[in-house]
Amino acid sequence: IEPNGGQVSAWGAAYIAKRINEHNKKEKRPFVLGLPTGSTPLGTYKKLIEYCKAGKVSFANVVTFNMDEYVGIPKDHPESYHSFMWNNFFSHIDIKPENVNILNGNAPDLCKECADYEARIRAAGGIDLFMGGIGPDGHLAFNEPFSSLNSRTRVKSLTKDTIIANSRFFGGNVDLVPKTALTVGVGTVMDAREVMILTMGHNKARALAAGIEGSYSHQWTISALQVHPKGIIVCDEDATDEL
Ligand code: GLP
Repeated sequence: IEPNGGQVSAWGAAYIAKRINEHNKKEKRPFVLGLPTGSTPLGTYKKLIEYCKAGKVSFANVVTFNMDEYVGIPKDHPESYHSFMWNNFFSHIDIKPENVNILNGNAPDLCKECADYEARIRAAGGIDLFMGGIGPDGHLAFNEPFSSLNSRTRVKSLTKDTIIANSRFFGGNVDLVPKTALTVGVGTVMDAREVMILTMGHNKARALAAGIEGSYSHQWTISALQVHPKGIIVCDEDATDEL
């Protein structure tokens, strides 16, 4: 628990940099990092860019897999998760473009795209550290309430809550928010060797309480973290209001 969002971001960035640096001292294979979008990780991305520019961490030996992507908006739409990741992170660090993996929400065969994504994760040796955020309803990636806790990468319909929450990125117009997305499954995230969830703000307090103190349940998909051997939650004081 950190006093504020800025410190949550700083903690998250320092942890990722530490893990990459430790890994590179011991191993030749790339470090495999799972990444989210949303407002929550923005501060962490900013810090990691600073560290990279200061030579404190390098992404030259890092492979990334993003959690999710909308279906039905072009890849270069300003609100696609592809645009988000390049604008807010990848364009500012020394990652090799071929090491960036983001689901293609415009693939001709979406089921094949999802199965191929799982195969690419396996071929990369699995994910070392998956960073994530949560929605106010406790969703992890786009694993909405009642998603199976064993789910894999697939097409998912978004709930009305999520469409309303994400409409702030579409000028407040719910009609412009895609109604479906591709998302890694809860099982895909839980297969990572480490999972670090960042949470800030009072609007996440109910989800955090249900996820940590409630039952292990598909009603709050974040609760899957309870049984992960190396699950970390980094949150600010406001997010602890309901604990
Ligand atoms: C979206 C993403 C999630 C993210 C959530 C919370 O629904 N698919 O991965 O955790 O938003 O977003 P924010 O961090 O902006 O609150």
